[in-house]
Amino acid sequence: MPVTVVDHPLIQHKLSVLRDRDTNVRDFRALATEITMLMAFEALRDLPLEDAVVQTPVAPAHVKRLAGKKLALVGILRAGLVMVDGILGLVPNARVGHIGLYRDPATLKPVEYYTKLPSDIAERHVFLLDPMLATGGSAAKAVTVLQEHGASSIKLLCIIGAPEGIEVVQTAHPDLDIILAARDERLDEHGYIVPGLGDAGDRIYGTR
Ligand code: PRP
Ligand code: URA
Repeated sequence: MPVTVVDHPLIQHKLSVLRDRDTNVRDFRALATEITMLMAFEALRDLPLEDAVVQTPVAPAHVKRLAGKKLALVGILRAGLVMVDGILGLVPNARVGHIGLYRDPATLKPVEYYTKLPSDIAERHVFLLDPMLATGGSAAKAVTVLQEHGASSIKLLCIIGAPEGIEVVQTAHPDLDIILAARDERLDEHGYIVPGLGDAGDRIYGTR
C-alpha cells in the first residue's frame, strides 16, 4: 500500500514547533495530540456511513451518520499514548488497547513487555498509534501482535517516518495502510530519525 503523508499547512506548522529542541514538555505533548487529531481526518476518511433522517426545526433532513462499525485505538507505549488522546477526543466511544514495546538500545530490536487489547479486537477497525517510525521494528512487531489477536483491519499512524522504517513495515505487512505527517530523510547511526524530533517518549514525559 502507498504511504499517505498528511501535509496540511496546520500540521506542518505544528510539526515545526514539535521538532524544535526548545519546545517544552507541556507544549510538546499538546502539539503531538493536536497533530494526531488533524491526521485523524485523513485516517478516518473511509469510515462507513449510513442514511438517516432527522427533523430540523424547518423540515426533515436526509443525513449521513457513522454506521456502527467499531473502532479500536491501540497505542504503542509509551509515546503512542498522546496520539490515543488525540483521536479519542473525536471518537470518544472507541475502545483503547496498549502494546508495550521498547527498543533495545544495543540491537535496536523491539522488546515486548505488555499487551492488553479489547477482547473483540478482531471485529474492530484498528488504528495503531506511535509518533515515530524509525527502523520500523516496533511498528512491524505491533502489527504482528494485533494480527495474532485476530485484527485484520489495521491502519498505522505515525507523526514522523524514516524511509528505512517504512520499507521494513511495508515488506513485513504489504497490505497495511501507513499514514504519516512527515517522511524524513534517514536514520542516523543510533537509529534516530534525521532530522526527526529526538526521543519522543523522553520529550513527552520529560525523562532522559
Ligand atoms: C520509540 C518510539 C517507537 C520506537 C520507534 O519508542 O515511540 O515505539 O522508538 O523505533 P523503531 O521504529 O526503530 O522500532 P522507545 O523504544 O524509545 O520506547 P518508549 O516510548 O517507551 O521510550
Ligand atoms: N524513537 C524515537 O523516539 N525517536 C527516534 O528518532 C527514533 C526512535
